[in-house]
Amino acid sequence: MTRQSLTVAVVGATGVVGRTMIQVLLERDFPIGELRLMASGRSAGSTVSIGGTSHRVIEAVPEAFDGVDIALFSAGGTVSEDLAPGAVAHGATVIDNSNAWRMTPGVPLVVSQVNPEDAATHQGIIANPNCSTMQLVPVLMALRDAVGLERVVVDTYQSVSGTGAEAIAELEGQIRAHAAGEPMTASVYPHPIAFNALPEIDVFLENGYTREEWKVVSESRKILHLPELRISCTAVRVPVFVSHSEAVHVETRDAITPERARQLFAAVPGVIVRDDPANHVYPLATEAAGRDEVFVGRVRQDPSIPDGRGLALWVVSDNLRKGAATNAVEIAELIAARDWIRPASRRAGAGSAA
Ligand SMILES: NC(=O)c1ccc[n+]([C@@H]2O[C@H](COP(=O)([O-])OP(=O)(O)OC[C@H]3O[C@@H](n4cnc5c(N)ncnc54)[C@H](OP(=O)(O)O)[C@@H]3O)[C@@H](O)[C@H]2O)c1
Repeated sequence: MTRQSLTVAVVGATGVVGRTMIQVLLERDFPIGELRLMASGRSAGSTVSIGGTSHRVIEAVPEAFDGVDIALFSAGGTVSEDLAPGAVAHGATVIDNSNAWRMTPGVPLVVSQVNPEDAATHQGIIANPNCSTMQLVPVLMALRDAVGLERVVVDTYQSVSGTGAEAIAELEGQIRAHAAGEPMTASVYPHPIAFNALPEIDVFLENGYTREEWKVVSESRKILHLPELRISCTAVRVPVFVSHSEAVHVETRDAITPERARQLFAAVPGVIVRDDPANHVYPLATEAAGRDEVFVGRVRQDPSIPDGRGLALWVVSDNLRKGAATNAVEIAELIAARDWIRPASRRAGAGSAA
């Protein structure tokens, strides 16, 4: 890690992901000279308390990015679309957590342990993948490199914190209402989420998939550099507060045993194998919550694929941490460490980067 002291902005600092970003920056001792917390005009002037320290919030407008080295955006796609170019024009490099820029050609989409080198080419914006994609690709990378990927089918079980603060409150309210024998009201989701499973995350597309499902398809292809990868997804919201779980079925090019797969997964930085079914040991949402790692278990041969080329597994990770905040901070760490903070076009031939 470089020793320079950086001015870091967090946009969406009052939100669930924004607060986690601040916490992760502080936990990892990121070299912050100044921390600028931004949100909408509604929250300007309020304070965010992290680790007992109060931080004042300012309105996110382009001028607020003067002097900012790195801006971590987590305020939704529209805000990123509108504001990120202005932030870049004012000198900041944006690490964006929304879906606004992920599939834009020329914008790197980076998972820190999978394709860090892609960040080198950025022109001011680096995209942080969707949380469901994030936890999937480190595991797929290990199989891609060792035995090749032919086809992937992933079904997700996603927590309400993936929707934000209002959804957490809605699930809590519905649980309380049920316990009190009162009717449950739903406003964030189209149906009650308590005691339910909703196969609708983000909007429906013309092809019948939801946009969340299609993010997993297109983002995985981009990050893994496999534009033709055959991959399908069903994304389901479940009444869990934190951590997304995924049932993953993989068809590989060459044969692979569950034992070898476990060894490959364990060798990926930030991946932990929890796989002892006889003792009821497998990844759990409750145990992944608050952790930065991706947990994988229930690794078994899929007999529906011939020649030992099929695997089934269960992948769990904290959607707010590795799925959003931690990976964003890891991208910040890597561009700082490799002197890639400035856009590539302003680095080339410009001597030492800032
Ligand atoms: N939660 C996850 O697991 C997850 C994972 C990956 C990606 N994401 C993405 O991260 C983003 C935020 O998610 P969240 O869960 O933190 O949502 P959230 O809890 O609802 O927070 C939203 C944040 O955005 C700010 N904001 C809203 N409008 C703004 C504006 N016009 N200008 C500046 N700031 C504005 C809000 O500030 P105010 O207080 O002023 O309203 C708040 O700080 C979304 O794009 C989401 O898709 C979330």
